[in-house]
Formats: sequence, structure tokens, C-alpha cells
Amino acid sequence: MSAAIERPRKVTTHVLSEMKMKGEKISMLTSYDYSMASIVDQAGIDVVLVGDSASNVMAGWETTLPITLDQMIYHGASVVRAVKTALVVVDLPFGSYQGNSREALHSSIRIMKETAADAIKLEGGLEIAESVKRIFSAGIPVMGHLGLTPQSIHKFGTYTVRARQEEEAKKLIEDAHFLEEAGCFGLVLEKIPAKLATQVASELKIPVIGIGAGNGVDGQVLVIHDMLGINQSFSPRFLRRYHNLFAEISGAVGNYIEDVKSGDFPNEREQY
Ligand code: KIV
Repeated sequence: MSAAIERPRKVTTHVLSEMKMKGEKISMLTSYDYSMASIVDQAGIDVVLVGDSASNVMAGWETTLPITLDQMIYHGASVVRAVKTALVVVDLPFGSYQGNSREALHSSIRIMKETAADAIKLEGGLEIAESVKRIFSAGIPVMGHLGLTPQSIHKFGTYTVRARQEEEAKKLIEDAHFLEEAGCFGLVLEKIPAKLATQVASELKIPVIGIGAGNGVDGQVLVIHDMLGINQSFSPRFLRRYHNLFAEISGAVGNYIEDVKSGDFPNEREQY
């Protein structure tokens, strides 16, 4: 009789909150397709984010604004089919929740039903209070996102560090408390001073995941194309590159082209 293979347990929002209590850091990465999500999940990541950064890295748009709800659902469902263990969070795209709480609920329900993801993420604080509350009323787990919120890039005008000034920092702290009280299970803080992020993480009971927010938070998230060095055009200070996949892939493609042109591929063993 073969021994049962012990699989890691499914990561839930409850597991994340236990990790925060134990001081165990949470790892989170984006994925947008089945094959990448399968690798990331099997490597042991805690949370897979189907980010609206798909608009940039998958579709080549300048900002995250153009991606649609249907496209996010396509990416979300592809990722969910691959992931066995990690918690899967899908971004609500721009225009699918701001300013209309009924639409926010409808968009969230579509994501949960049509992707089978575990949770949704949205950007903003008190200004989207009604939408946040309505989504919670349907029992959908919500992750917040404050600081540099790329869906508001046309309001900010630049991708520079947010909340350096006291007034903006104060609003961010208020928004973070609002999101926790409203029922968010976690919060992403993007590109804000490390000291402020550390303060928010220590004041909140829910896990706070940073991107460009220093090391005093409960976990880190990066866009997978950036950390693998597939996307070479984006190199902010907070990014650590773990590989140069651009060079690896273009080297392999170059070798293939050479083999095809020289007639070396396919050889005897590679044909029928
Ligand atoms: O869309 C995304 O990838 C994100 C992360 C940068 C947090 O929201």
C-alpha cells in the first residue's frame, strides 16, 4: 500500500490571518494564465493575484484602465484552473465598481461565479465605501488596495511615491481602518514610505501586503513579469529581479531560428 502524499493545505483568508498572528510573512505574486499560475502555485506561493496589471504586461496597454471585466474573468478562470493550494484574488477592473455600488456587486458576483476565485481586490478607501459594503453584504471576501492606486493614474498624474505629505498619509491611515472595519481580509499598500506602511501594518489586525512599501508589513507582492525579468522596461527601486528571462527566452528563440534556417531542426529522431 502506498503512503498518502501529504499536500500543503489550501490557503484561505483565515490562514492568512493566522500567518499574521504568528509573524509569518505572506508571499504573493501575480499570474494571468494557466501555465504560469501552475508553476507559481507548485513553487509554494501563498497568494496568487490576477492583477489588472494584465492590462500592461499581457495586453501591452500603457495603463491598467483599458482592461475589461470580461478579460479579467478570462484571466481569472485560467489561473483558478491551475491553482491547487494558493488563495486566488482577482482584481475588479477600472469602471466595474467605482461610483455605482450595484454595479460593483454585479461585477464581483460575476468574478466569483465565472472564475471560481477565492476573493476580489479593489482600489480606494472611503470614496468607494458604499461599493465595499454592498460587496461584503453578498459574502464576498474583499482585499483593499491603497497608496499608489494605478486605476487613478490620471488623477495622480505620475507613478511617484504616494502619501509623503502628512495630509495624504492621514487619509491613507483612515482609509485603511475603514477597510478593516468594513470587513476586508487583507490590504495591499503600494509605493508609500516604509515608515507609514509599518505603522498601518501594526495598527491593523488584517494582513498588510506591500509593494514598494518596505519590510515592516506582513508580506510582499510583485508582478511576476517584473521579478522574472521578462519585462525589461520597468525598473523601479522597489523591484528585485530574480531572473533575466528576457535574455533566456530570446537566446532560446535565437537558437531555434538558427536551427530552422540551417536545416538542423528537425533531425532524424524528431520526425515520423
Ligand atoms: O494589478 C496588480 O498587479 C496589482 C499589484 C501591483 C498589487 O494590483
